[in-house]
Amino acid sequence: MPILTSPLSAALGLEVSGVDLARASGDQLDAIHRAWEQSGLIIFRGQRLTNEELLAFSRRFGELDPPPVQENGRMSPAGYPDIYVVSNVRDEKGEPIGALGAGEAVWHTDMSYLETPPDASILYALEIPPHGGNTWFCGMQAACAALPADLRAAIAGRRIKHDGTYNSGGYLRQGVTPDDDPQRAPGAWHPAICRHPATGAAVLFLGRRRNSFIEGLDRAASEALLDRLWAHATGPDFTYEHRWQVGDLVMWDNRATMHRRDPFDPAARRVMHRTQIRGTRHPVAFPAA
Ligand code: SIN
Repeated sequence: MPILTSPLSAALGLEVSGVDLARASGDQLDAIHRAWEQSGLIIFRGQRLTNEELLAFSRRFGELDPPPVQENGRMSPAGYPDIYVVSNVRDEKGEPIGALGAGEAVWHTDMSYLETPPDASILYALEIPPHGGNTWFCGMQAACAALPADLRAAIAGRRIKHDGTYNSGGYLRQGVTPDDDPQRAPGAWHPAICRHPATGAAVLFLGRRRNSFIEGLDRAASEALLDRLWAHATGPDFTYEHRWQVGDLVMWDNRATMHRRDPFDPAARRVMHRTQIRGTRHPVAFPAA
């Protein structure tokens, strides 16, 4: 049976329906792969996946990446080291079962502080709070295409330092020494405008704001330019807000999107299982026009 798709927003995303991901055929999975690459973000409602089924679906898109080291280390359900738990819940001993707590997770691209960041992330909703905890996505291809000419010229041919000190919840990554000097802090340099390896499109690649730095500028000029770029990319024309339901599975293209999460009531429970598809290439600069 063919999959059905409908757009989520003008800038990115498709809702895919008519498919049970635990039983998807090869043709359906191929169509899902194409929809993900073309739209940057795909969502599925009403799924009922075991950990094994989540892993089997994820492996269809490439090799799995180990979860990132977060404020509590690597958080996985027992026996599933390739699944990463995003949750504010604590176990019977009072220990966190996952990462990122209940606060805001600021805009970011996953693990862009690596030379080769992951290609994709998949987030599956097991428990959802009654309010808050929505996840926002922005389309970096659309944001790039709409860059004002002066902003485009200001970053042409430049690279940006992507910081690896803090995670999107503002927590220090376990084992890292705090450092707010972007020149010294751990991280990776990537072109400000990259060529998407699958579509060939130009995408703005900002990563995360904190400790970011634009090559060749002094700190004040870099901060001012970054503020303008971030305000542009995360504006309403390029974003989609996902309001979660239990059983939603969301898969984003980490090379073409950023995401952030709203805070929620810490007394409520939110449990998500996440997998990541390993990156296959370093981000490459989009050829200058
Ligand atoms: C994440 O940044 O991977 C977590 C997003 C969320 O909790 O919705």
